[in-house]
Amino acid sequence: MSSTSGLRGVVAGNSKICTVDGIEGKLTYAGIPIQELAEHASFEEVVYLLWHQRLPNQAELDALKADLAANAALDPAVIALLRTFPKDAKPMDTLRTGVSALGLWDPEQTDNSLEANFRKAIRLTAKMSTLVATLESLRQGKEPVAPRADLSHAANFLYMLSGEVPSEIAARTFDVALTLHADHEFNASTFAARVTIATLTDMYAAITSAVGTLAGPLHGGANEAVFRMLQEIGTIENVEPYLKAKLDAKAKIMGFGHAVYKTTDPRAANLKKMSRALTVEAGVEHLFDLSEKVEAMMLEAKGLYANVDFYSASVYHVLGIPVELFTPVFAVSRVSGWTAHVLEQLADNRIIRPRAEYVGPVDQHYVPIEQR
Ligand code: COA
Repeated sequence: MSSTSGLRGVVAGNSKICTVDGIEGKLTYAGIPIQELAEHASFEEVVYLLWHQRLPNQAELDALKADLAANAALDPAVIALLRTFPKDAKPMDTLRTGVSALGLWDPEQTDNSLEANFRKAIRLTAKMSTLVATLESLRQGKEPVAPRADLSHAANFLYMLSGEVPSEIAARTFDVALTLHADHEFNASTFAARVTIATLTDMYAAITSAVGTLAGPLHGGANEAVFRMLQEIGTIENVEPYLKAKLDAKAKIMGFGHAVYKTTDPRAANLKKMSRALTVEAGVEHLFDLSEKVEAMMLEAKGLYANVDFYSASVYHVLGIPVELFTPVFAVSRVSGWTAHVLEQLADNRIIRPRAEYVGPVDQHYVPIEQR
């Protein structure tokens, strides 16, 4: 691999939204440490922070909550389209198509003014949650549950998923998980969104690119793979032989390693605490013990730390979220960061067009087909 492979370490632009210190294991949104936000902020406050780089006052927060609630419902035409999707299609594929379809029913789709883009950021953030829950209902052959305006964004998602208002603890836990996943600087999906919007296409195109990019197992798809791996390992005794066989075969263990963090991912530390508390409460602490053993072995065997996807798997499972939805749930949160980056890119835009180091053949000439 060349030194420029994967653009590792390359600074590709300025941003005021979020920064990651991979050596110290620090993450801040607009200068505020992620731990403070996880402890004190609601997801709605975080959304405002990412979009404006300051916390909202009470009136601004109330207005944002009201806007999100007012824009959460899907157009009946969109729901009719979602009903035509194959039942066995992967949730990230239906989500990508669903996000793209939202643009078709937005009269402001092609308006790239700042005001219209803020309105679209609200609509996309509000509707992403409804879209994921609606697609899941339809996948399970059930009727979608309409969003409720009196619930927080986090509680509303869990409500639409199960049809029941979640407990305060479940809603708060999910709210914190949304905060922890909301932004992460120039990660692959965010960068894809910025590259897309930098051509001056529209926000729906940018967020569709981002959803497509998030789906892969090296990015957002890792949380689903982590849970399937934990299920496959099954028992604590099996952790060591399982990991040894995988590592000997040079397989990547999902939920470990990071392109930027070379120490503990601060989001993983928070999620680990949440996983411990939730699994004990639900009487499934073997899932936590198993995860902790995998974490210890990966550090010992490979010097690799758990990333955001590792403990989010057990957290989501205890919250009753089906494993197929783990990656779509990432999008429910990250759409806040994606839209913040689209707004930021447009505020000081230049098309993103890097160069390639040419390593192909030289001095070739056209040969007529009958002579080849
Ligand atoms: N399991 C096993 N080995 C891993 C690993 C993992 N999860 N992550 C990295 N490594 C190994 C690599 O094979 C490489 O070994 P080598 O030098 O012998 O070839 C070394 O550690 C360096 O890793 P590298 O692949 O250069 O890291 P990267 O910056 O290119 O990739 C990730 C970062 C996140 C894509 C990578 O760690 C990964 O694939 N992790 C699993 C998927 C995942 O959890 N993604 C979610 C990220 S939040």
